[in-house]
Amino acid sequence: MSVSWRPRPKLFCLCLILCATGVSGVFQLQPLNAAVLQGSDARFNATVQGNWEFMTWKFQDIFVLAISGSGNVTSTEEQFSARFCSGGDASCVEFIIHNVSRNESGPVVCSVLGGRSKTAQLEVQEHGTVNITGENVTAMQDQQVEFRCVTSAWYPTPTVSWTWNGQAVDSSLYNTSSMADGDTFNSTSVLKFQAERNTTVECRATVQALTNPQSSSVFLVVVPKPPDWTVLIAVVLSFGGCALLALLIIGIIFCYKRRKEKQTNYKDEISKRVRTQSPAAVQGVFENTGYVSEGETSVAPSKHTDSGFGQAIGSNVYVVPVYSLQAINGSNNTVDQSGFRKHRHVTIV
Ligand SMILES: *[C@@H]1O[C@H](CO)[C@@H](O)[C@H](O)[C@H]1NC(C)=O
Ligand SMILES: *[C@@H]1O[C@H](CO)[C@@H](O)[C@H](O)[C@H]1NC(C)=O
Ligand SMILES: *[C@@H]1O[C@H](CO)[C@@H](O)[C@H](O)[C@H]1NC(C)=O
Ligand SMILES: *[C@@H]1O[C@H](CO)[C@@H](O)[C@H](O)[C@H]1NC(C)=O
Ligand SMILES: *[C@@H]1O[C@H](CO)[C@@H](O)[C@H](O)[C@H]1NC(C)=O
Repeated sequence: MSVSWRPRPKLFCLCLILCATGVSGVFQLQPLNAAVLQGSDARFNATVQGNWEFMTWKFQDIFVLAISGSGNVTSTEEQFSARFCSGGDASCVEFIIHNVSRNESGPVVCSVLGGRSKTAQLEVQEHGTVNITGENVTAMQDQQVEFRCVTSAWYPTPTVSWTWNGQAVDSSLYNTSSMADGDTFNSTSVLKFQAERNTTVECRATVQALTNPQSSSVFLVVVPKPPDWTVLIAVVLSFGGCALLALLIIGIIFCYKRRKEKQTNYKDEISKRVRTQSPAAVQGVFENTGYVSEGETSVAPSKHTDSGFGQAIGSNVYVVPVYSLQAINGSNNTVDQSGFRKHRHVTIV
């Protein structure tokens, strides 16, 4: 057939144009593809314009029904019936296959005497069960949760989808695999996501013939996360460490200061002592002993030491008298036997 079309493309084009405009309007069959659930009725409408006398319906290669232009119906079985669509208008005939079963998928052919035949396809589908395995789930916040949805005894393979709180779940979050089981299919869909809030999780399965998807749902209860103790502990520890370090530094500074203070106090103490203690104790420290100039032995030991040596004793040697507490106090105990005081500072200018 296809070979014979090639040399005559013009005829093919003509047919396409005619089909698109006039001729197809004369005889139509709808739907051309019918998906029907097992156990329900399959319905096909044939629309014929103009007068027609006789129409036949063939199902699974058998003529199963005939209808006359006047509406008289003859059928081979009760399962098949036909009638005018509405109000006895002969331009439309409805053909019904009742209680279809799984093995009744196949072509449905309608012919009008003296006209072309039209073919439609019937597919009998089957819906099985949908179940999310397990009960309601309780999960920690941010915990990864997994739901498993099992569908069984469907034909053909159902389309499985998920919703949470009624909204569609992104398909990247689940995987669905299916396998044949006899003349039906079972499938398993696995959904994984991070628990955030309380969620109603629903698994839906559907086939074309099903107007509403079949579904199963469970409830996900999300328990708020406990406070993160590790973070808290880390914070406390680091703060504690800082505080300790600060204390240590302060302690060191304090100790250092105190030490310094003590040292200066000691010095002060010493100088105080020096100033207040009896000269005998400190004499050696401040007085230069043992200088006696020649020729002064004749000077009488007295309180005059203050004034007695305020003169130049040489050309450039000047003897500065030393202020002596002893002399003021009048205690002569350091005066040696010669009755002569030897303590003097001599400054050579
Ligand atoms: C159906 O056909 C019978 C005879 O074959 C006829 O008597 C009857 O009137 C027809 N019915 C209709 C509705 O045309
Ligand atoms: C439909 O067909 C099945 C067998 O294919 C039969 O068991 C069932 O009773 C039928 N249902 C009706 C309503 O006729
Ligand atoms: C789905 O399967 C693919 C490949 O096997 C894998 O990389 C991906 O993580 C799976 N996704 C889920 C939600 O299981
Ligand atoms: C989830 O629901 C449970 C009770 O069903 C409730 O106790 C809990 O507070 C809810 N969690 C959130 C995050 O709303
Ligand atoms: C799951 O949770 C819902 C909503 O809280 C509740 O109505 C239902 O009974 C629970 N189901 C089971 C099996 O516990």
